[in-house]
Amino acid sequence: MPTTATRSEKTSTNPFLNLNFAPVQSEQLITELSVSGQIPLELEGRFLRIGPNPLKAPNPKSYHWFMGSGMVHGLRLKDGKAQWYKNNYVLSENVTAALHKKALPTPRKTHGGNVNTNVLSIGGELFALVEAGSLPIKLDADLQSVAYSDFKGTLKHGFTAHPHKDHATGEIHAIAYAFDKKTVDYLVIDKEGRSRTAAQIAVPHQPMIHDMAFTKSFAILLDLPVTFSMTTAISGKFPYVWNRKQQPRIGFIPRKIEDAGKVIWIEAPSCGVYHVMNAYETTDRIILDVVKNSMNFDSEILKREPKQNTLVRWTINLTDGKLVETQLSDYSVEFPRINERLFGQEYNFGYTACLTKDVKFGPLYKHDLSKGTTIVRDLGKGRSAMEPVFVPRNNANTEDDGWLMSYVFDENTNNTDVIILDAQKFQCDPVAVIHLPVRVPYGFHGNWIADSDLQTV
Ligand SMILES: [Fe+2]
Repeated sequence: MPTTATRSEKTSTNPFLNLNFAPVQSEQLITELSVSGQIPLELEGRFLRIGPNPLKAPNPKSYHWFMGSGMVHGLRLKDGKAQWYKNNYVLSENVTAALHKKALPTPRKTHGGNVNTNVLSIGGELFALVEAGSLPIKLDADLQSVAYSDFKGTLKHGFTAHPHKDHATGEIHAIAYAFDKKTVDYLVIDKEGRSRTAAQIAVPHQPMIHDMAFTKSFAILLDLPVTFSMTTAISGKFPYVWNRKQQPRIGFIPRKIEDAGKVIWIEAPSCGVYHVMNAYETTDRIILDVVKNSMNFDSEILKREPKQNTLVRWTINLTDGKLVETQLSDYSVEFPRINERLFGQEYNFGYTACLTKDVKFGPLYKHDLSKGTTIVRDLGKGRSAMEPVFVPRNNANTEDDGWLMSYVFDENTNNTDVIILDAQKFQCDPVAVIHLPVRVPYGFHGNWIADSDLQTV
């Protein structure tokens, strides 16, 4: 049995290097895993997670959570058993250079940067993703990095960490920006994993655009006032800052190919948004549910207004350009997820993780939007959940008929469990808990990759 990864401790002045934000020091493969409860037989696949794991001790004065080299973690479930857990560095250019390994094959210049933000399947293949201009890195089913990818020669620029699949068409939609470009690409990826640029849209302030949404008729572009700063980049800090000069706006890009250039812009509230929960159309409005935050990356503003992460609904009238904001929950949340089969469609249930204004994780939440309620799922003292991932049951006939999976860090043991909850019995004992004898650092995103999502398992 391998030894437990480096103990998480508070040793740095930088919160993103402390406790369970601290990197682990080794790659491991563990095949003997202790399980409580019964892993559902239907769950055949990999529960993957990715986040930053700096290879070398970064400068605590300039290090930001978004900047570390990527590490992918995975738990393999099959036949009701937990077959393995493993973690591997994602071999971006920086990582291969630091590890004195041969660089990955690449179809063109990679644009640099660590690939550390999301991991999912596209066209039957597994990819590690990041935003701001880098190419995706293809992984094999054992989570080893294979090559940079331009989606079979079809991706003209970089990609994004937050593409979304339209289960009505099987296509994936994405908004891709790059730190050095004043345009963004609206991309549509077909079932075979080939990308086409449906529109290129001018964004003169070079905003950070972490996530996107779509409805039946529109792709939605969040052009908010966190923008690239060369001055900050040169200083070695995270290169995006709050930009008072930029008028926040939301772009509605018609999905109809012939109209894609006719973007409808409306004024947005002054805030940052990392993540969209969902969006859909009613007869005369657009519903856009997001987690909005206060003015990121501006230390002066943050002194006055501590950062909040608030789940809100923006109800938008495209005819008069009016936007009405309604708060959906009193809790400070992040990493919103839903039954992804309903992305772009009317829905009722959302799931989030606690993320407080001082960047502390904690319980999970289930949001019942029609009732306007939030159910809290406490994980116990010292236990904090990362992004919840909903996996629908086969032949499910209600929206929340399925499981909710999450990596849960336990500061009492300094290890991480993977929990599987029945999403309809959110506050009951988990269906199963897989006890990892290692620590999985807080990271960004996880996804359930069913064997049926991959060409090769
Ligand atoms: Fe994200």
